[in-house]
Amino acid sequence: MAPSNSLPTSQRAAHFMPSHPPSTKISQVAPVPTIPKSGIYTLVRVLSSSINPVDYKIASLPQPLPRIMIGSAPITPGIDFVGRAWQTNHPDLKSGDLCWGKDGIAKAPEGYLSLLDQGRKLEELGCVGVAGMTALQTLLMGDLPYNRSGGTETGGRVFINGGSGGTGIFGIQIAKHGLRCETVITSCSGPNTELVRSLGADEVIDYRSTNVVDALKEWSRNNGPLDLIVDNVGNDPNLYWQAHHYLKNDGGKFVAVGAGVSLSAVTALTKMMLWPRLLGGGKRNFHLFMLTSTKKEQWDQFGRWMTEGKLKTVIEDGNVFDLANIGEAFEKLQTGRTRGKIAIKVAEDGH
Ligand SMILES: NC(=O)c1ccc[n+]([C@@H]2O[C@H](COP(=O)([O-])OP(=O)(O)OC[C@H]3O[C@@H](n4cnc5c(N)ncnc54)[C@H](OP(=O)(O)O)[C@@H]3O)[C@@H](O)[C@H]2O)c1
Repeated sequence: MAPSNSLPTSQRAAHFMPSHPPSTKISQVAPVPTIPKSGIYTLVRVLSSSINPVDYKIASLPQPLPRIMIGSAPITPGIDFVGRAWQTNHPDLKSGDLCWGKDGIAKAPEGYLSLLDQGRKLEELGCVGVAGMTALQTLLMGDLPYNRSGGTETGGRVFINGGSGGTGIFGIQIAKHGLRCETVITSCSGPNTELVRSLGADEVIDYRSTNVVDALKEWSRNNGPLDLIVDNVGNDPNLYWQAHHYLKNDGGKFVAVGAGVSLSAVTALTKMMLWPRLLGGGKRNFHLFMLTSTKKEQWDQFGRWMTEGKLKTVIEDGNVFDLANIGEAFEKLQTGRTRGKIAIKVAEDGH
């Protein structure tokens, strides 16, 4: 049954409080967004969402930066969603359709509903947003055979720094099963080795017991240079400064995704971006990944891979929180130790 077209006057929502460290409160009477008078719109009844480091990072900045970056108060965390279109004039959607997205929207993948019968969870779709699209978009930036050939060729070697977090789990699977890379190397702590191998990693570097830069130098000496490095961690500038030892010169790319919000982290990134090679700077292409965009064709591709069984969201027991407990979910995410994604259950699907 499609949802009734009459809009409720208020909704339940989480809001960030202007405190340090950032905390959340639940409003039972948050306003329902107004429908624009013109243009394409879809109002979604959100069923499940997820949280990402960007949520608490932006909220941690001193005011008025969060308000300038996100807009008017109060700030609601969580960009990712899966839900049912409530009211829409979108050409691909009708009221009641299952749809997913982050700041844009797409119809949920064909065939996913039948996967629900096979035990896949709706929450999986609600966690794709920022992490899944970032993983896909950073890998598409690489000079990989699949990307060069429009999907007909396979091969290439990728290093994903930070393979067990939200972005890493998608990156490994996309690189191995979607873009069909020959070698996917990743890093994580020892206890997560089995997880990342199960997702498709060929080589795993335990960053707690091994120096990642030295391990990549050694690997590359024996096997040749990498085509792409995606850095989801951003804790060691040497990974870039030493990249000429393990990243190919012609077309090789270093993509920085993870970064702290401290002055030293920003200074290190600025140096990497601006210090020219001729004056002794980095010897490989550096790209700072700033903003995850929303492209319908990429959502559709992601959905196809999911329904083909090539991609899944890793959500461990204990990592599905009700909206009322979003504060606890943030505490967990902020440890920086989450395996996979954290899902936020917002409502039951009454169709
Ligand atoms: N620019 C953008 O648009 C964009 C988009 C998405 C994400 N990001 C950024 O990318 C980063 C990662 O995001 P995420 O969602 O993946 O975060 P996350 O889920 O919080 O990542 C947690 C994971 O990081 C791993 N980790 C921590 N320190 C590590 C290290 N030194 N080496 C290897 N792995 C390490 C942990 O594994 P262990 O427990 O095994 O250590 C844990 O599994 C964040 O800084 C986020 O802000 C940016």
